Amino acid sequence: MLRHLMTPLDFSAQELDALFDLADDIREHPDKYAHACAGKKLATCFYEPSTRTRLSIETAMLNLGGSVMGFSDAASSSASKGESVADTIRVISCFADICAIRHPKEGAAMVASEFASIPVINAGDGGHQHPTQTLTDLLTIRSLKGRLDHFTIGLCGDLKFGRTVHSLINAMARYEGIRFVLISPPELRVPDYITDLLNDRGIPYEEVIRLEDVIDRLDLLYMTRVQKERFFNEEDYVRLKNFYVLDTEKLRRAKSDMYILHPLPRVNEISVEVDSDPRAAYFKQVQYGVYVRMALILTLLGIQTTDAPAAAE
Ligand code: NCD
Repeated sequence: MLRHLMTPLDFSAQELDALFDLADDIREHPDKYAHACAGKKLATCFYEPSTRTRLSIETAMLNLGGSVMGFSDAASSSASKGESVADTIRVISCFADICAIRHPKEGAAMVASEFASIPVINAGDGGHQHPTQTLTDLLTIRSLKGRLDHFTIGLCGDLKFGRTVHSLINAMARYEGIRFVLISPPELRVPDYITDLLNDRGIPYEEVIRLEDVIDRLDLLYMTRVQKERFFNEEDYVRLKNFYVLDTEKLRRAKSDMYILHPLPRVNEISVEVDSDPRAAYFKQVQYGVYVRMALILTLLGIQTTDAPAAAE
């Protein structure tokens, strides 16, 4: 059966465990996987800018011995001639074995998956979801902390437009003992559908404005950039862009084992002086992103390597 990744909830918690076990095995024994995707092609269809996600997915496929093709800009695709996502994906399905799509419109990846005859990975749809970043975040947390449950996790910055935040809350809400501290200016609060979800499930959360007031209670701090491209007016962006700046002074009050994550790109929200703090995990996160995307490609293509841990089914 054809399988896609649209939101992190497309995989059960057990399937995610299997995916992360596979990612760990890939990290420990990369040679075992070096030819696992020989002869397979990945298409990356990016209608919105990206550095990490596109190159990370492409690196993942190249590490597996497969090949890559695609476009990194809507202007260089037939979208500029007016072609629909539905038609583009039907065409790409004739060329590639698997496709990753990023699009400024919410739901675009879902439309693509409905018309595709190959697995489709949502690499970010507008301000909605970004599931492969969440897989990256979860693998990073699991690797650094040894578990995915019983944390107080602070999410700070643009919680309204930050799709990585929405996907991460969706995914973390499934684990036991999770408490969210949502830190944002009032204008950039999480959308109501996220707080509805937390209320419905009785998951504890609080919404606060000042990072300084809560930083000492956090086990994990997920910083995000103010999403300039999703603002309707420049004035609001300029007013809010430097609302949070995490520096060594503020970090002094944080727990000694409170890891700092960030999906990147960073603008000003984490001062560069923090980079050398042992709690700064955002560049490690990038490396975990490659392992987990390798595991994802293998899983969606249904490729089993002999003596590898069983992939999610
Ligand atoms: C994120 C995104 O594109 O949503 N970046 C990424 O994929 N690592 C976060 C962001 O752009 O702020």
